[in-house]
Amino acid sequence: MFRRTLVKEVDVSTIKKIGIIGAGVMGPSIAELFAIFGASYDFSIVLFDISSTQLEKAKSRMDVDFTKVSSTGLFNTSDLEVARNRIQLENDINSLADSNLIIEAVPEKLELKLEVFNQLDKLTPPSTILATNSSGLSITQIANATNRPQLCIGTHFMNPPLLMPLVEVVKGEQTSDQTVQSIIELLTTVNKRPVLVKKDIPGYVHNRLQAALFREVMHLVDEEVMEVQDLETTVKYGLGLRLPVMKVFEMVDLMGLDTIQNVLTYIYPTLDRSTKPPAFLEQMIKSGELGTKSGKGFHDYTRKDIQDSMRQKEAATFQLLLMMQQYE
Ligand SMILES: NC(=O)c1ccc[n+]([C@@H]2O[C@H](COP(=O)([O-])OP(=O)(O)OC[C@H]3O[C@@H](n4cnc5c(N)ncnc54)[C@H](O)[C@@H]3O)[C@@H](O)[C@H]2O)c1
Repeated sequence: MFRRTLVKEVDVSTIKKIGIIGAGVMGPSIAELFAIFGASYDFSIVLFDISSTQLEKAKSRMDVDFTKVSSTGLFNTSDLEVARNRIQLENDINSLADSNLIIEAVPEKLELKLEVFNQLDKLTPPSTILATNSSGLSITQIANATNRPQLCIGTHFMNPPLLMPLVEVVKGEQTSDQTVQSIIELLTTVNKRPVLVKKDIPGYVHNRLQAALFREVMHLVDEEVMEVQDLETTVKYGLGLRLPVMKVFEMVDLMGLDTIQNVLTYIYPTLDRSTKPPAFLEQMIKSGELGTKSGKGFHDYTRKDIQDSMRQKEAATFQLLLMMQQYE
């Protein structure tokens, strides 16, 4: 209902130029998203970074991404070439000055985000919308570094933004309804599935849900209730198999609200209530087990076949997404 009214009220055509700050993991993929899926709006897109090394890396990364998109056969090659040319890589912040929307994707440090927002507030016209891709910092606090808190908003993309449909649109205390509507409308036009987070709480919603699962699996490992491999099987072939085709509250309905009430009544008091991550995580980090980036975490990634299978997961996610859309 909400989204249908929005489409009529908001004119996305007022957004001509989109600036993105930070060409690390997230920024280039956000740029690709608007370049490819915003083709009919002909956005001009500037991807800015203070580091020219990062811009070089972003360029190579975009080569790989555009080749992958091309291999899906969903777009014609000349359209993709036009899209690619819409993205301008810059290391001068003044190149963002006339943007209608700027999406910030610099590292997750509050002080840095405050500095960047303050800088953008001085650089851009008062009508420019300033969005942050923060994973969970306070939008209200970030917005307060500007003189336009009503135009500041959270756009929390999932990694990689080009592929993952979900974007949390986070309302700060002073974010205007008009800003929320414009951003939801814009994201819808580029094929995303925006959801509105109405209250500016730490971690927003998606990362809180993820944290709830992470907290419990780590607790169960710590308490020696189950081995990591069996936990993987439990999540993957239990919950994991249901979720692509069934909604969470649909699952509750299927189980029966009376049954679930009985079950939750005895399980809730036994769930992990830790207020900090488990000590064994710290131990793993100290011994260099950082996950894929160091070759070992809860699993070992040094074998080539495992590395290949990790690389294929993006393509598999895309196939899964096509299938999931049949069960809306
Ligand atoms: N990586 C993820 O999976 C992921 C997922 C969702 C949200 N996020 C969020 O997105 C944001 C960016 O994360 P990332 O993983 O892309 O970070 P990253 O560290 O990979 O990239 C950040 C980039 O910002 C640049 N930068 C630093 N200071 C700058 C400045 N003052 N001006 C311009 N550029 C500057 C750096 O050179 C770097 O290229 C963070 O807020 C993060 O929490 C990340």
